[in-house]
Amino acid sequence: MHTNEPFRLGIIGSGIVAALHVKAARTLPQVEVAAVCDIRTDAAEAMAADAGAAAYPGHREMLAAERLDGVIVTSPHTLHAQQTLDVAAAGVHVLVEKPMGTSVEDCTAMIEACRTAGVTLAVGHVMRFSETARMAEKVVSSGELGPVRAITHRRSARYSRDSRPAWFFDPALAGGGIVMNVGTHGLDRIQWLGGGEIETVHAHVWHRGGLEIETDAIGVAELSSGVKAGFTFTTAAVPYTDETLVLCEDGSLRWSATEGLWVSRDGEAEARLADPDEETADAFAAQLAAFVESCRTGTSPAVTGEYGRQVVSTVLAIYEAGS
Ligand SMILES: NC(=O)c1ccc[n+]([C@@H]2O[C@H](COP(=O)([O-])OP(=O)(O)OC[C@H]3O[C@@H](n4cnc5c(N)ncnc54)[C@H](O)[C@@H]3O)[C@@H](O)[C@H]2O)c1
Repeated sequence: MHTNEPFRLGIIGSGIVAALHVKAARTLPQVEVAAVCDIRTDAAEAMAADAGAAAYPGHREMLAAERLDGVIVTSPHTLHAQQTLDVAAAGVHVLVEKPMGTSVEDCTAMIEACRTAGVTLAVGHVMRFSETARMAEKVVSSGELGPVRAITHRRSARYSRDSRPAWFFDPALAGGGIVMNVGTHGLDRIQWLGGGEIETVHAHVWHRGGLEIETDAIGVAELSSGVKAGFTFTTAAVPYTDETLVLCEDGSLRWSATEGLWVSRDGEAEARLADPDEETADAFAAQLAAFVESCRTGTSPAVTGEYGRQVVSTVLAIYEAGS
């Protein structure tokens, strides 16, 4: 592939997050959304019309008909594995949405299929690409607050039947509830800022409203770096909460999706980034640009399949500990 040719992108699933990827692609001159698919053909056609792409009723039809450079998998969680295998078998690079899969075995099969095919496998832990994330990581790694000792993370996401597409409530398609879905973002953040992998976890997981998937989880974890972590994922927190507190030896860092990034030291608080409102779109664009760069240069993506698998394995450990 010549780098001055557009990177021809296909998207599996034409739902909520696919629209964010299309929007991101629009900001990148090197990327052309060539094709989209969805079993809901009306959704695929509407997205295709918006993106100037071709629409297909399924990913196999799309892969057979199109010459694609990369595909983003944005379907329900348990479908990620087989679709990734099919994309890899077609010799096409893959960016798979979080959670990478819903079992460690599936994730391993995805890693091996992409390795065998010689294609890039990246996992969509998109928060890594936000400006707040970059700045938070800079503060932590600069050592200005001393070593990290502990991290707490709280996140809300509404889990009621009227709040999101029906498949999120079906274990056969979602593979889990709030932890499998938004918990993966928080676990990524804890591990990234905590400088290690979660090794042990104690948790309590429960279901509300008669739902089969969990709506709430709390727990504590210990990382390979020695950092201790606590987390709360709940359907019940209103207003929206997405906040991480990094407790360091000489102060703390507060990362809030609604109130920005703060550093606290000696009783004084200083805003490092006050307005995170616009950054979701920028993070999706930065993630897509990095994916294209990895595909074109053959360099390892920022979020690898091995890392995505480790996050899935932590989600499953939380389920086991919490049951
Ligand atoms: N990175 C983020 O911040 C973020 C945000 C939202 C969702 N997500 C992830 O993105 C993925 C999709 O979530 P969503 O909110 O867009 O859900 P969604 O329901 O809006 O979209 C999923 C789409 O996949 C389609 N689909 C189902 N089976 C299919 C098949 N066999 N082939 C092709 N398409 C099929 C559905 O019809 C639907 O349109 C999930 O993995 C989710 O966790 C990530």
